[in-house]
Amino acid sequence: MDLLNLIYKVLPAYFANAVPVILGGGKPLDLGKCFVDGRRIFGDGKTIRGFISGLMAGSFVGFLQSNLFQGFLLSVGALSGDLLGSFIKRRLGMKRGSPAPLMDQTLFIIFAMLFCWPYLEIKLEEAILLTLVTIPIHLGTNALAYLLGMKDVPW
Ligand code: CTP
Ligand code: MG
Repeated sequence: MDLLNLIYKVLPAYFANAVPVILGGGKPLDLGKCFVDGRRIFGDGKTIRGFISGLMAGSFVGFLQSNLFQGFLLSVGALSGDLLGSFIKRRLGMKRGSPAPLMDQTLFIIFAMLFCWPYLEIKLEEAILLTLVTIPIHLGTNALAYLLGMKDVPW
């Protein structure tokens, strides 16, 4: 499968990951609560509105692709991977918004593909290729969001 078709297949995941940057904010998903280590579970960068808007946007893209179910699974996966990244960052004592190279760029797409794997019909090599191309895509779109004033940091 060519690269553009591959990207098209996982497009809901990209929307689920990007839309919270625009529509997120407000109450944090962890409700401000701390984990057993005394640090925040996810931190203020992961909000309820962000999660819901990401889920709806990604699912809607899936709906437009005539594949609401895959769009939904890809979105839940992308948002879960992003949450896991924040969870790990907080456990390592990293502040909200601090960069975690590779993890920030790839965990969401890896989890999106995992959650949707039985239905995605792509090969492992293609999944690896998608993960690799997601790194520059993520860095590029985040830098753009920063230039547009939607993010405080360019990563
Ligand atoms: N965002 C949100 N809800 C989510 C995911 C993201 O509201 N579930 C919004 C937040 O405003 C967040 C921004 O999108 O600050 C950028 O997302 P991300 O880079 O993933 O979060 P960080 O602020 O960098 O936090 P962390 O260090 O936990 O990754
Ligand atoms: Mg970040």
